[in-house]
Amino acid sequence: MEQKIRTIGVLTSGGDSPGMNAAIRAVVRTALHYGLRVKGVRHGYTGLLKEEIEDMDFHSVSEIIQRGGTMLFTARCPEMMTEEGQSQGAYVCRKHGIDVLVILGGDGSFRGALALAQHGLKVIGIPATIDNDVTSTDYTIGFDTAIDTAMAAIDNIRDTSTAHERCSIIEVMGRSAGYIALWCGVSNGAEDILLPETYDGDEQKIVEHMMNSRRLGKTHHIIVNAEGVGDSAGLAKRLEEATGMETRATILGYLQRGGAPSCRDRYYASVMGTLAVKLVMEGRLNRVVAYRKGSFTSFPIEEALQMKKSIPEDQLEVCRVLTK
Ligand code: ADP
Ligand code: F6P
Repeated sequence: MEQKIRTIGVLTSGGDSPGMNAAIRAVVRTALHYGLRVKGVRHGYTGLLKEEIEDMDFHSVSEIIQRGGTMLFTARCPEMMTEEGQSQGAYVCRKHGIDVLVILGGDGSFRGALALAQHGLKVIGIPATIDNDVTSTDYTIGFDTAIDTAMAAIDNIRDTSTAHERCSIIEVMGRSAGYIALWCGVSNGAEDILLPETYDGDEQKIVEHMMNSRRLGKTHHIIVNAEGVGDSAGLAKRLEEATGMETRATILGYLQRGGAPSCRDRYYASVMGTLAVKLVMEGRLNRVVAYRKGSFTSFPIEEALQMKKSIPEDQLEVCRVLTK
């Protein structure tokens, strides 16, 4: 017979993302609405293994919806990659009476969640990472804010680039996926957009493009480079040597991950947090929440982790045409 669910736990894992707080708030308040008890786990899986667990009530999540970061703190936890860590994680939850653990993070965090499920714990995942690289969903909490933050920063760099008639390489986050680079590259009107999904390493092509832009009278050359391609400083040096055009590299880094979440991130995080608890109430466990083709939905975690996601060809075409 299925055990009755009385208590849920909630934790944030991997890189923080704006909107995580809104999702935590929605999880806590929806759970309380349905008469569940809630325990917050601090510092992701690391805190779980160290039993950093506290009761949460309505007021625990006051004044956080507008804040970036995560009130529960986050961490990367190598011990969760081991069988010992995973069985300890499930044991700690049982010890603290946590019947279901809600995990906010990316696919890495979901792999940790699956491992916990394989050790008998019930889990629910909510996709939260600025990289938008979770395969089962079109949207991840934090991406919308991150692209607006990066876009504003690139606009600023463009002003000074134009004033000096320089080339600027701006490296944006995205460990292995180019979504931030694609969206900002197109929205900032970049001359070149380098994505890990498509970049062929042909620097001569960029050199010719820079020379051609200059001949056409362009006063700047903006290259948006994804972290997954990397080496922006080296590339700047090589391009300057090859073209004679002053070239500067800026790595935007962590400024993209902080800041007040956008309205979309707050709203989608609130919907996803509520949906996560509704799945618990319906007994639909070991699933991850997703936003696909315009609707909020969910998938069994195992199936979600086997999905593939790529940048649609028509969007790559936009990128190619508009950077000509
Ligand atoms: P994200 O969740 O944003 O993808 P990471 O890939 O860094 O971020 O994963 C966050 C954490 O999830 C890791 O530090 C680790 O504790 C856990 N994790 C990642 N991959 C696995 C895995 N294959 N098995 C178990 N736990 C994992
Ligand atoms: O959260 C995702 C991400 O921002 C990646 O784009 C980046 O590679 C990574 O996190 C950096 O994380 P850390 O905080 O471990 O340096």
